[in-house]
Amino acid sequence: MELVAQRDNDIDNWKEVTLIYSSALKQISVKLEILNDEFQHVHRYNPIEHIKSRIKTPESIVKKLKKHGYESTIQNMIEHVNDIAGIRVICSFTSDIYRIADMIRNQSDIKVIAVKDYLVSPKSSGYKSYHMLVTVPVYLSDRIVDTKVEIQIRTVAMDFWASLEHKINYKFEGNAPAYIKNELIECSKMASELDRRMLSLNEEIQMINQNKSQ
Ligand code: GTP
Ligand code: MG
Repeated sequence: MELVAQRDNDIDNWKEVTLIYSSALKQISVKLEILNDEFQHVHRYNPIEHIKSRIKTPESIVKKLKKHGYESTIQNMIEHVNDIAGIRVICSFTSDIYRIADMIRNQSDIKVIAVKDYLVSPKSSGYKSYHMLVTVPVYLSDRIVDTKVEIQIRTVAMDFWASLEHKINYKFEGNAPAYIKNELIECSKMASELDRRMLSLNEEIQMINQNKSQ
């Protein structure tokens, strides 16, 4: 009897926790949409191409806790799994990445816990992205909960690369043959070169537009 009660309680807690994380995701999404709209209004262009968000599945939360040697409890998951709520912001140009990161940083209710700049230091796989771990306050009826959200900001080219690399790694369970890994590193360099050239093309176009309007 006690075991059942315990389980019911766990399910209730789990429901409450996921509700809090999905509220945190909603808050960050709305903030980003507002920033994008304002940017469009002021600068006549959208830095954000699109936004994807997800809540980590219970299976992968348990897997991550196990991997790091923690028991599967709600407390452990809140403390040790930082990407339960994840949001991915895809933009056109590398310069947009830092612009978006700064806009997030400047929001007074968002606390930045950690930043990983894989643009400056790409992973050995060739992975590039800008990661921010932040907390955002979620206002419940009786309390405020600072909730962790992992934000990944990357260009369309970086996202294209990361999704294929993820698929390949999944297929080979992380042990892809060396020639495929090397090819992925080459592709990552090509994606970076594409980003660089597209950025400089865009800057030239902006210069031309500025000169026209003078
Ligand atoms: P994990 O989530 O366990 O990987 O924690 P971590 O401390 O290594 O965090 P990190 O910020 O480096 O990576 C977190 C997330 O970034 C992952 O869940 C992926 O979504 C993405 N990521 C990191 N490295 C790679 C990579 O080499 N390839 C791809 N496709 N995605 C990556
Ligand atoms: Mg990792």
